[in-house]
Amino acid sequence: MYKNKRIKIVDLLRSEEFDSSVTVKGWIRNRRVSKNVAFLAVNDGSTVSNLQIVINNPADELMSKCSVGSSVSVDGCWAKSQGDKQLGELIADNLVVTGFADPEEYPLQPKKHSLEFLREIAHLRFRTNTFGAIFRIRHSMAYAIHKFFNDKGFVYINTPIITASDCEGAGEMFRVTTFDISNPPRKEDGSVDFAQDFFGRDTKLTVSGQLEGELAATALAEIYTFGPTFRAENSNTTRHLAEFWMVEPEMAFYDITDNMDLAEEMLKYLVKYALDNCKNDLEFLDKRLADEEKEKPQNQRSAMGLIEKLEFVLANDFARVTYTEAIDILVNSNHNKKKKFKYPVDGWGIDLQSEHERFLVEQHFKKPVILTDYPKDIKAFYMKQNDDGKTVRAMDVLFPQIGEIIGGSEREADYNKLITRMQEVHVPEKEMYWYLDTRRFGTVEHSGFGLGFERLILFVTGMTNIRDVIAFPRTPGNADF
Ligand code: 4AD
Ligand code: MG
Repeated sequence: MYKNKRIKIVDLLRSEEFDSSVTVKGWIRNRRVSKNVAFLAVNDGSTVSNLQIVINNPADELMSKCSVGSSVSVDGCWAKSQGDKQLGELIADNLVVTGFADPEEYPLQPKKHSLEFLREIAHLRFRTNTFGAIFRIRHSMAYAIHKFFNDKGFVYINTPIITASDCEGAGEMFRVTTFDISNPPRKEDGSVDFAQDFFGRDTKLTVSGQLEGELAATALAEIYTFGPTFRAENSNTTRHLAEFWMVEPEMAFYDITDNMDLAEEMLKYLVKYALDNCKNDLEFLDKRLADEEKEKPQNQRSAMGLIEKLEFVLANDFARVTYTEAIDILVNSNHNKKKKFKYPVDGWGIDLQSEHERFLVEQHFKKPVILTDYPKDIKAFYMKQNDDGKTVRAMDVLFPQIGEIIGGSEREADYNKLITRMQEVHVPEKEMYWYLDTRRFGTVEHSGFGLGFERLILFVTGMTNIRDVIAFPRTPGNADF
């Protein structure tokens, strides 16, 4: 029907081939209509910038259909702009409304909506500038993760989503069953007989691909997983999801230092990739954040803008500190002495809360921190035990505003130490024979970590609620869409 092939707005907006005839398709974001001329701001998802469409002598009937949210197909002439805001504008020859959006019912208006409201209409929020920018950046970060590991020769492994083992040992798993839950088959003692269930055993959604990742790493040497993980923890915070994506590299022949080096290199690579490749979207989000900051009282404003913060991470080495040193810093801080923490730090052995992590990063070191050598009692069974008998070779990477963005460790490679620890914390060693086999047959020093993908996206976009960086968040009490 149209003579031209559709051109994307992102490409048109940088084209200097003026006076050529082009076809553009998209959705109307805004409109300004007067008697002799109408202007439509049209967006097709390829960029945060809208294209200005100029309609000379607009017909009333056509304009009544050009409501915000309607889809249009426009043939026109690409003309150099008079103003300097954009290179050009499209003078419409032929404009067709392909899908009308009734303005009485369409919930998005050309004004700033609250993030809370947009969460309620998450199926439509892709159509806002903010969410367009977030999801283009999220895509770029996923691509950059694959590129980073591919360029280093890592092998991408897909680990199972349905599993019978609890990697983190925290027991926060969703059950997978085909039983009629109101009437499952039972054993003589009254307990549910999972032997009759679909997989012939009790199965769950995985909390991590690490254990299977280790099986691959102890043959392919350097692997990574990148997939969905599930946690049935009842944490209604701005940093927790019940379904989130995790990137888990696992490497043979890496000790904890190699592991930390890789984590720091990867995070810097990803931040640099965003700065180099997502400029327009980052500039939009940077401005958005700056506008929000202006509404806060002076003493609550963050010192750095979004882009400044990303550049700052690139420019500085991460601080590397042991858990024991961190506890000393926290215990002796004025913040703790003045009882300003919600959870006071009373000494060695406590699990760090995100307020403590953020204090270390934002107030004390003023840069990202890698904390190592945590007490073994607050970490998972697979971590390499230190000679002190108290700590393990764990490493958590802590970021400003986020707290923990990466959790990882060197793994216990010694069969006897591992099995003893499994017994102490009641990990079923018989069922986990396959995991123990890596230590029975040609065991090697190895390490790995898990990056919470949404926490990375929080950092890169400057958003503050994790529900806003995944398309359809799953949180306690919410599985809409
Ligand atoms: O620290 P975690 O629990 O570590 C593991 O699962 C290891 N098996 C990883 C490994 O060594 N291969 O989780 C890793 C990261 C955290 O640092 C955090 O960024 C993210 O996953 N994460 C969550 N993100 C969103 N919602 C949640 N409920 C999360 N729980 C963990
Ligand atoms: Mg952790």
